[in-house]
Amino acid sequence: MSKHECKCTQKQVATGDRAILPEGARTIPIYVMGKRYEVPETLTIMKAMEYAGFKFLRGAGCRGGICGACPTVYRKEGDYKLYFGLACQTVVEPNMYLAQIPFYPANRAAYEIDRIEPVAETIHALYPELFRCVACNNCTKACPMGVEVLDYISALKQGDIARAAQISFDCIQCGLCSSRCMGELPQYHIAQLARRIYGKYIQPNAEHLEKRVKEIESGRYDGMLDNFQEMSHAELEKFYKEREREPDMAPNGTWVPKDTQYL
Ligand code: FES
Repeated sequence: MSKHECKCTQKQVATGDRAILPEGARTIPIYVMGKRYEVPETLTIMKAMEYAGFKFLRGAGCRGGICGACPTVYRKEGDYKLYFGLACQTVVEPNMYLAQIPFYPANRAAYEIDRIEPVAETIHALYPELFRCVACNNCTKACPMGVEVLDYISALKQGDIARAAQISFDCIQCGLCSSRCMGELPQYHIAQLARRIYGKYIQPNAEHLEKRVKEIESGRYDGMLDNFQEMSHAELEKFYKEREREPDMAPNGTWVPKDTQYL
């Protein structure tokens, strides 16, 4: 038994995200902003902090690894390295020293996406600090989403907006990349601008989406929506439960509903 394991006789509990300590659950020590707390070993950092008495007014949003509100930096005992993660996704470890960084004060340029010239020079002008990058790769090491941050920064320096947009697609705007940057770049804001330009000006429009929007604007679905609005809660629930659904394992593009009036 390591020195971190509880000495009392306790049964293992299934890994989960429970804020109520199940009978027999083991607890481990963690340090939040320097203060020690005993928390169930199965919890995420976010749940463990709530278990310890913290209340998140900021620094928590989706709780599902999407919104980027809960970036956390931590060290492990006896390890010189800094680790980065999302509090809602990272499970606690014995003697981790952690601090929340829900906001990082990085520069964000002002622009109107409808009025800008969709070229790399626009990004270079709005974010000249892009060229302060020294390619140290600390940004990539800090990213809790595994985004190759340095690669998209390099792509933008070379003027490749599409490549930068694609590489940065999983960015959740948490700002941890910026917190470690020797050149003081706001990587995540720069990538967001690249994705906005790509989405508005470069990526081909989806024809099926344009078609469907035109159909909606023409009033094709107004009658159906009016019917829904007149239904009671019970009728809506029944309708929803009995709706025709695509089989889970249907090969792509092969399934057609019986009612094709709205296709
Ligand atoms: S709370 Fe949204 S990513 Fe963690």
